[in-house]
Amino acid sequence: MQRIKIKELLIADPKNVIGNEYLVKGWVRTRRESKNISFIALNDGSTINHLQIVVDHSKFDEDFLKKITTGSAIGVKGEILESPAPKQPIELHADDIELYGEAPADEYPLQKKGHSLEFLREIAHLRPRTNTFGAIFRIRHHLAYSIHKFFNDKGFYYFHTPIITTSDCEGAGEMFRVTTLDLYNIPLTSEGNIDFSQDFFGKETALTVSGQLEGELGALALGEIYTFGPTFRAENSNTTRHLAEFWMIEPEMAFYDIIDNMNLAEEFIKYLIKYLLEACYEDLGFLNNMYDKELLDRLHHVLDTPFERLTYTEAIEILQNSKQNFEFPIYWGVDLQSEHERFLVEKYFNKPVILTDYPKEIKAFYMKLNDDDKTVKAMDILVPRVGEIIGGSQREDNYDKLFQRIKENHVPMKDVWWYLETRKFGSAPHSGFGLGFERFMLFVTGMGNIRDVIPFPRTPKNIEF
Ligand code: 4AD
Ligand code: MG
Repeated sequence: MQRIKIKELLIADPKNVIGNEYLVKGWVRTRRESKNISFIALNDGSTINHLQIVVDHSKFDEDFLKKITTGSAIGVKGEILESPAPKQPIELHADDIELYGEAPADEYPLQKKGHSLEFLREIAHLRPRTNTFGAIFRIRHHLAYSIHKFFNDKGFYYFHTPIITTSDCEGAGEMFRVTTLDLYNIPLTSEGNIDFSQDFFGKETALTVSGQLEGELGALALGEIYTFGPTFRAENSNTTRHLAEFWMIEPEMAFYDIIDNMNLAEEFIKYLIKYLLEACYEDLGFLNNMYDKELLDRLHHVLDTPFERLTYTEAIEILQNSKQNFEFPIYWGVDLQSEHERFLVEKYFNKPVILTDYPKEIKAFYMKLNDDDKTVKAMDILVPRVGEIIGGSQREDNYDKLFQRIKENHVPMKDVWWYLETRKFGSAPHSGFGLGFERFMLFVTGMGNIRDVIPFPRTPKNIEF
């Protein structure tokens, strides 16, 4: 008999499945016993909902049934009947049970519900089996799929940028080295420097912090591209919003100015929320009930509200006039802290905010200089509870100005000569942005810690396996 997924059974019209025989396979979430009957809640990962399995003890060996405990993996064949229980329309009455894997009750750590998220982080190998993480990882899948769908439907090409690279796109020097040199016996040049010519690539290499610079090469040929891959930052930020390994989506578009860029980003965010509200309504509903009672309202609100657009300079004025007691002082030129961002988004505007035209000193070298020579065509998108989820800009497309910015920022020419060359040959106005995948996951799931929206989080001093 062919196995059927539990989701399929539960979404079917009960009339069409009642009275039929089915085979289901999954993991036992709970087992409740009354006199001669057991009720097993079976979950196979296809949905947050469990299928109730009714086991008549007289049909099975007693010692065999003892092994079917919370966490064990089983296959069950039987007839679907109408359920007398009010919460579920159907249940499966077991005729035949196969036990694939036991989960000894004295050792299996997920015996009861309600473990803390901190505890579950320590058992990253088992936490996908909880309701919470099942929901989160299903949402993660649907989010990734909807991102590809959004761009594909718009005619963007998925452009693969390298993971191992020689250039530091953001210029922050927060890169993880990639090397095959023997760390116990590092070869040196006659001047006493590390001799990278003996390294695997013959050059100093690292894991990428962003695919943008290479993405621009794609956009300046294919028109509209996006990247979607892992990025790595060795910044020592132990916060609820920073990972050392995270995923980023970076669209890059030829002939887009900063306004086109903002319009695309806003449309993108709304598209993804709308998609998830439909595709994941059960999982989102679960998270709304369990963790964040305002989650669904917040998502609907964001969907229905035009984002507030203002310049960095205007934001500084609002913050200065706010009479708030910020920990970090506010003045023109300062990099905004999350307390400032959250004040703007959550208290002042109560909606997502797009901040533009930041001082050039606090932004990367590639952003297009404004006519004032002081600010650049940057745009950051800030959302409630999370802060910055998108960073982007119009790119400097003028050869001389870009050359100047590279020098001012002390970016080694050997690392970016190829990037500069695109401003010599067929340069064109273009723009792009980067969406932090896990930051967006925080926003759409209502979870409070970025470690809980990626299966295997990497943060300073923390890597499980
Ligand atoms: O603002 P960032 O640093 O921008 C870039 O990397 C540009 N090259 C993007 C572009 O224009 N193509 O990073 C973009 C986004 C941030 O807004 C944030 O959402 C996320 O990436 N991000 C992180 N997410 C998790 N952990 C970290 N350590 C992150 N650093 C950035
Ligand atoms: Mg940023």
